Order: sequence, then C-alpha cells, then structure tokens
Amino acid sequence: MRIIAIVNNKGGVGKTTTSRILAEYFSIVKKERVLALDMDPQANFSNRYLKMEIDPYQQEGRIPPLHPSYDSSAPEDKDWDGRSSIAGIFFGEMVFPYSTYINTLEVAPSHSSKLLLAEAVTRDEVVQKVYDQLSKFLSLDDVRHSYDKIIIDTPPSKGPVTISVVRAATDLLIPSIMEPQPIEGIYGMIHLWKAETLRRPDHHPLNLIGVLPNSFDRRGIIHKDHLDSLKREMPDYVLESKIGRRLIYAEADADGAVPPSIFMYPDKNPAKQEVLSACMEIEERMNVYVN
Ligand SMILES: Nc1ncnc2c1ncn2[C@@H]1O[C@H](COP(=O)(O)OP(=O)(O)OP(=O)(O)O)[C@@H](O)[C@H]1O
Ligand SMILES: [Mg+2]
Repeated sequence: MRIIAIVNNKGGVGKTTTSRILAEYFSIVKKERVLALDMDPQANFSNRYLKMEIDPYQQEGRIPPLHPSYDSSAPEDKDWDGRSSIAGIFFGEMVFPYSTYINTLEVAPSHSSKLLLAEAVTRDEVVQKVYDQLSKFLSLDDVRHSYDKIIIDTPPSKGPVTISVVRAATDLLIPSIMEPQPIEGIYGMIHLWKAETLRRPDHHPLNLIGVLPNSFDRRGIIHKDHLDSLKREMPDYVLESKIGRRLIYAEADADGAVPPSIFMYPDKNPAKQEVLSACMEIEERMNVYVN
C-alpha cells in the first residue's frame, strides 16, 4: 500500500486539485482501490465526493453527512452521532470511510472543528500523540488490506496535522505555482522531507516524488523563468510534466460538474492528456522506491 501525501504550506497552489487528479487516476484509470483522506479543515477535497454539511456549532465549519450505515434506532449505534471523519483518529474514534460515485474510491472526509483542534495542540506530549495518530491508523490490518493507494490532501500549514501526514506517508508530492511565494513553500517542504528522512529507519524511506508545476502559464515568461531557475537549483526534484492554467480545472471543481472527473473527458481533450502524462510520470517516480 502506498501513501501519497500532497503538501505545500502555501495556500491555493493546487494541493486539492492534485489530490483529486491522483485519487481519480488510480481509481478510474488504474482500477486500484483508493482511499482519499482530507486532512484540511476547509474540507474542499471531501466536498468533491460527499455532500458535506454546515456545522451548526461553528461558523464556516463543515461536517460529514450521516453515514449510510448509521442506524439511529440500533443499540450498537447509540453512542455514535452517525458522522465519521478522518479527524476522528485524533479523538479515539473509529473511522468508517464513505463510498463515492467511483466504485473503487472511498473517502474519509474532513471535520473542520476537530481538525482545527488537533492542529492547535501545544502541550508537548499531546503534540507527539497527534504526530503519530495517522501512522497508527494506516498501519491497521484492515486498512492495509483494503486499499492499494491512500491519497492525502493537507492544509496550507506546517502544523501538527501536516507533520502527522508526513510521518505516515510513503511518498510526497509538492504541487506549486511557479511564483515566488509558492516556491518558498517548496523549500519549506523539502526541509520537512529531509528532517523526516533523517528521523526514519533505513528500511522505511520517504520517497520525494518531486515538485509538480501547476497553473502554469505557457504564454507568459514569469512562470518559465521561475521554473528554469528551480530546475537549475534542484534538477532531480522537478517533474518534467506540468499542469497548465486552464478554466477546465476550476470548472471541474464546481458542484455537479459534468462529467465529474477529468478522466471521463474524451481522450483527445488536452487537459486530460496533460493530466494523464503527469500521473504516469508520478507513477514512474514512485517505482524508483519499492515500499
Ligand atoms: N491548473 C489550474 N488551472 C486553473 N485553475 C486551477 C488550477 N489548479 C487549481 N485551480 C483552481 O485554483 C484554486 C486553488 O486550487 P486548490 O484548491 O487545488 O489549491 P490548494 O493548494 O488546495 O488550496 P488550499 O491551500 O486553500 O487548500 C481552486 O479554485 C482551483 O479550482
Ligand atoms: Mg486545498
């Protein structure tokens, strides 16, 4: 089972877009069993697959819908509110993934207030616990035997929740726009990867897939200049593929978008083609390491 974390502490660089692309590539195109995890309190990734609800207790907060297996009249469900999120791991709760419109894709959604609480811990022993919770969950036999790939979307931060994701991951992918602020985020993430690599035993490496340029403007010179200098500086870490700035990616984010996945567009669609080649390069870069 490979655990792919999509990270960059700068906001709006394409983490959720890339998480979607990968979750849908492995489930729709490769027909693998995929679990999508949304560790971001904003819950954008969850929203693409589930009808998230507004949290009555927290402004702008999102909570998962009632789980289809929940039965409020069943005695075994009497201590459960019927909602399950990946944030439950930080509170000793069971996690029951939800099915999606894609047969082989399940999602363990976000829960805004619970993830914000986990992110805000400060007492050292509690912070250490948060760090380890996701690794523990993903090493459960039930999880390891049920999925081929775990795709994790993260918040734009380097807080305890992101650290827990980096600790649990087998592979890291850093999407970034080729502009100064997001590029700063790349350096931060590479630093995090190096620190984690030093912490790990040799038999359990963390593979850096690399940096995926997103929202790339092929006509302008700014993006090309930044990409060229990044490639000079870290030639091994920058992917050859790029995701262009295209309206279609923003449109695919809308509720009720038809078709719902970029992989359901006709094969000649240029966005589908560029996304497919990026996914294939990502897979190749994952095969360098065998976990
Ligand atoms: N290649 C692209 N072309 C056009 N629009 C894009 C592209 N990639 C992402 N977007 C749009 O840009 C916005 C930000 O993208 P996205 O949500 O993937 O970033 P993010 O890194 O997850 O943001 P956050 O840090 O807030 O979670 C979204 O509205 C998305 O639809
Ligand atoms: Mg996001």
